[in-house]
Amino acid sequence: MCADQNSVGPSRRDFIRTTTAATVGLSLGPMVPGAHAAGTDAIRIGLIGCGGRGTGAVLNAFDGAEGIKLVAMGDAFADRLASSLEEISKDHAAQVEVPKDRQFTGFDAYTQVLATDANYIILATPPGFRPIHLAAAIAAGKNVFTEKPVAVDGPGIRKVFALADEAKSKGLGVAAGTQRRHQTGYLETLKRVQDGAIGKIVAARCAWNQGSLWKKDREPQWSDVEWQLRNWLYFTWLSGDHIVEQHVHNIDVVNWAMGTHPVLAHGMGGRQVRTGPEWGHIFDHFSIDYEYPGDVHLHSQARQIQGCEGSVSEALVGDRGQCQVDRYAITGAKAWKFEGKDNAPYVQEHTDFIASLRGGKPLNELKTVAESTLTAIMGRMAAYTGQPVSWDQALNSSESLMPANLTFGPMEVPPVAMPGRTKLT
Ligand SMILES: NC(=O)c1ccc[n+]([C@@H]2O[C@H](COP(=O)([O-])OP(=O)(O)OC[C@H]3O[C@@H](n4cnc5c(N)ncnc54)[C@H](O)[C@@H]3O)[C@@H](O)[C@H]2O)c1
Repeated sequence: MCADQNSVGPSRRDFIRTTTAATVGLSLGPMVPGAHAAGTDAIRIGLIGCGGRGTGAVLNAFDGAEGIKLVAMGDAFADRLASSLEEISKDHAAQVEVPKDRQFTGFDAYTQVLATDANYIILATPPGFRPIHLAAAIAAGKNVFTEKPVAVDGPGIRKVFALADEAKSKGLGVAAGTQRRHQTGYLETLKRVQDGAIGKIVAARCAWNQGSLWKKDREPQWSDVEWQLRNWLYFTWLSGDHIVEQHVHNIDVVNWAMGTHPVLAHGMGGRQVRTGPEWGHIFDHFSIDYEYPGDVHLHSQARQIQGCEGSVSEALVGDRGQCQVDRYAITGAKAWKFEGKDNAPYVQEHTDFIASLRGGKPLNELKTVAESTLTAIMGRMAAYTGQPVSWDQALNSSESLMPANLTFGPMEVPPVAMPGRTKLT
């Protein structure tokens, strides 16, 4: 995790202090001496993307610290916003201040949320929109909690890397939904690995193998774009494919352990079971060999096939021992098992982020999550094309998946990638 050590920046001046102004509903603007020591800086959440995770992230933030309100919400669809608002309000009505004029829908909803006085933006739309939404949020001077992954293609990642620097220079915080990095068992285990408990890492494995996920049957009034958005998992322009959308978590753990990212990917994959048009055009399985500097290889698997449930895990092989990271277990001369109390990482990531903002040292996890996202994109490109793909090729790719001028209406489903025929661009 890369914590930005920047001291007080513009973001802190953007806070309302609950000790004084917030209680009477006024924004004081500049810092109020003493309020910071009391740890009461008011967090005003603006939620962009009010689905399952966005709703959950707001509730996790409420549980993560005191002095938090939800003040604005935006979603492509009114029904998703309404059900999220209802769910969040159920047990937290006092923390919800989202009148009709701070509920925004449509593709422009994000600009309207950013125009409010929200100072803690949660980005939880499908990841295809992330670079656009991140850019707008940072341009608006907001602190951001962004769900993973943070892009679906090389141009998106280039933009996000630049935004990581821009956020830093503006003193803004950006936390990422890679919650394992805030999970006690993972932190304790990887600390020991980094202190040499298994010696030098010589190989790694990671997997996200599970059955099928949800899909929504098409309704007659839905346009092509609406149908794709409501089933975003199955369209690469929206999700990046499941190796990016889901398996990024496990890849992120290996990058964390390695302290770097791979330089090359060879891979294969396909669409063996989910072949009907209702499953969009993504693959249902991937198997990737990633090469890190020093000829260290990671074997990564990602599968979503019903009846083939399997492991969601990360493992490291060292020259003096092994580590099953997800089980918090080290074997070898320095054998060890985490026996402590684990925490609630989805809550902890907000606790840590909010503490960093209130402490004037905003976390900036954007570069790290962008590296893990690009690692996953590189694997997808290798599997789609059947070609080895280097880090630089993935990063400098000209393949931009987000359609220009997106509006609700007709949209063809892109063809299923075909190794040997699909070109690297
Ligand atoms: N960290 C984790 O463990 C974890 C778990 C689940 C999901 N996620 C991530 O969270 C994100 C959202 O996933 P989810 O499961 O909540 O999906 P979801 O479908 O439940 O929610 C997505 C929401 O975004 C809305 N949306 C789509 N396009 C939009 C746009 N342009 N502007 C505004 N709103 C838009 C949708 O209408 C929907 O309400 C994804 O990036 C996913 O990978 C992370």
